[in-house]
Amino acid sequence: MTPKLPDDIRTPAYVLDVAALKRNLETAARIKREAGVKMLLATKAWAMPAAFPLMTGVLDGTTASGEYEARMGREEFGKEVHVYAPAYGPGEVERLTAIADHIYFNSPEQIARGLPLAKATGRAVGARINPGYSNATLGGGLYDPCAPNSRFGTTVAEIDQLPWDDIDIFHVHALCESLADGSVGLIEHVARNFDPYLRRVKAVNFGGGHFINKPGYDVAKLIAALTAFRAEFGLEAYLEPGAGLVVDTGYLVATVIGLHRNEREIAILDASASTHMPDVLEVPYTPPVLGADKPGVLAHSYILGGKTCMTGDVIGEYSFAEPLAPGSRVVFGDMMQYSFVKNTTFNGTPLPDLALLHEDGHYEVVRSFGYEAFRERLG
Ligand SMILES: Cc1ncc(COP(=O)(O)O)c(C=O)c1O
Repeated sequence: MTPKLPDDIRTPAYVLDVAALKRNLETAARIKREAGVKMLLATKAWAMPAAFPLMTGVLDGTTASGEYEARMGREEFGKEVHVYAPAYGPGEVERLTAIADHIYFNSPEQIARGLPLAKATGRAVGARINPGYSNATLGGGLYDPCAPNSRFGTTVAEIDQLPWDDIDIFHVHALCESLADGSVGLIEHVARNFDPYLRRVKAVNFGGGHFINKPGYDVAKLIAALTAFRAEFGLEAYLEPGAGLVVDTGYLVATVIGLHRNEREIAILDASASTHMPDVLEVPYTPPVLGADKPGVLAHSYILGGKTCMTGDVIGEYSFAEPLAPGSRVVFGDMMQYSFVKNTTFNGTPLPDLALLHEDGHYEVVRSFGYEAFRERLG
């Protein structure tokens, strides 16, 4: 659906569609209610503090990738703060004990060093386990936490080295953009293979990657699997999705700033794959453009690219009903997860505005960036 955006907005801009986010949160609320689980926002995927008040009534808190995200969760979201990193830097666990309620460790080595401090300060301790369950379908092994030689989670070979009497939460994260079969498969795999450990903890965290708002995700199936798991083990259960909470809730709005021809028509935008849509290059994938189609389908086809010096800074080829011209607007869909949280200012490329499209059509810019944002980071 094409959003009703004002004509005169400054681009590039990431625009959160508040109505779409509220729809996604209804799915989260249903899962929590019907399965009796808790749900956290993984702020690594998406973090827009201006929109957190929309979420705090539904979600139980945030989960962080380290100290800074944890601090943001504590200060801006204000509910439970969980944190996991494959390793913590010097002093990080100490500082985290003042910020996070739940601190997760990756390995026997990390837990031996961090657990005494976490316990002494009354924090709940999680152990991330590598369950040996591969379901992530994106990017080859790039997004599979259980890929060979992965650095994520204690493997079965070392699991008995963990101090289970002191561990509160059994944690797995093994999915990426997975539909319900992936979620259910993981839950059942954990139940089948880790019974003795599950009997010793207070809670289980099934990680992220549950693509709960993606069309085709069978939410009832997830609820049934979680309900059966909880009935069998009597444990509190968490999910910590990022992408699944914000899929299809916003746009990256760009403007054509130049045209070029090299056997094909090329439109150069004020948005860039390299700096603004890194997953387009990393996964790789071709994002949807609202109102456009595959090349050759509509009358006018263009390769869309950014203005950076990187030859590969190409978003994809599309066709449009009308020819593009400098000033034409191009709106990329599904641009909330893993987008602005990963932005860079490579080539001095300006960072896009961050904005909200409210339900009544009001367009609110929550943050604009200028030269300072680029200059500041260079010291
Ligand atoms: C430990 C952990 N939890 C949650 C997530 C969120 O995953 P997603 O955004 O795919 O739901 C990630 C993503 O990498 C993760 O590493």
